[in-house]
Amino acid sequence: MIISNFIQSLIAVAMALGSDATPLDVRSPQDPGTLFNGTLFVCAFPNYVLPCANFNYSTDVCVNLTVPFMNSTASATPRDTFSICALFTGPNCTGSSITVSYPGNSNINPPTYASFRCTIPV
Ligand SMILES: *[C@@H]1O[C@H](CO)[C@@H](O)[C@H](O)[C@H]1NC(C)=O
Ligand SMILES: *[C@@H]1O[C@H](CO)[C@@H](O)[C@H](O)[C@H]1NC(C)=O
Ligand SMILES: *[C@@H]1O[C@H](CO)[C@@H](O)[C@H](O)[C@H]1NC(C)=O
Ligand SMILES: *[C@@H]1O[C@H](CO)[C@@H](O)[C@H](O)[C@H]1NC(C)=O
Ligand SMILES: *[C@@H]1O[C@H](CO)[C@@H](O)[C@H](O)[C@H]1NC(C)=O
Repeated sequence: MIISNFIQSLIAVAMALGSDATPLDVRSPQDPGTLFNGTLFVCAFPNYVLPCANFNYSTDVCVNLTVPFMNSTASATPRDTFSICALFTGPNCTGSSITVSYPGNSNINPPTYASFRCTIPV
């Protein structure tokens, strides 16, 4: 059931995000397309199972994932409700990509992503 999976995903991400002090940013963007400093929460296993880490980013600036998440990010979400993050197979935001937005993708398969870049859609 899609709805039930969605609710389970919300619960999983809420629990995972609650495991450290960084609050979820639920502001509505005042100015879509504007610059923003945010955080991408990534985990090496599906369903936000540890190890996990926060990667800070600035809107539209590429960030390389690092070990143990490089090529092994199996679940990820921005820690805000308005950014869309593209995960790329190659370093420096090269190669093919998928996008994630809150509450993220809890089972990125295959987990072959090496870098990301986020934007606030206009
Ligand atoms: C984001 O952080 C960088 C580095 O600290 C800072 O120079 C920049 O002004 C910040 N941008 C925004 C939109 O807050
Ligand atoms: C990420 O950003 C948060 C909030 O601005 C800051 O407290 C933290 O130190 C940053 N982490 C890194 C690794 O820069
Ligand atoms: C990630 O994958 C790329 C391309 O397959 C490879 O060149 C790189 O060594 C891998 N890095 C890690 C840490 O697995
Ligand atoms: C990384 O990407 C930036 C922005 O697209 C580009 O200017 C830079 O040359 C790239 N670096 C490498 C090593 O590809
Ligand atoms: C990402 O990693 C590539 C390959 O190591 C490097 O050339 C590039 O400068 C890095 N990009 C950023 C944004 O750190």
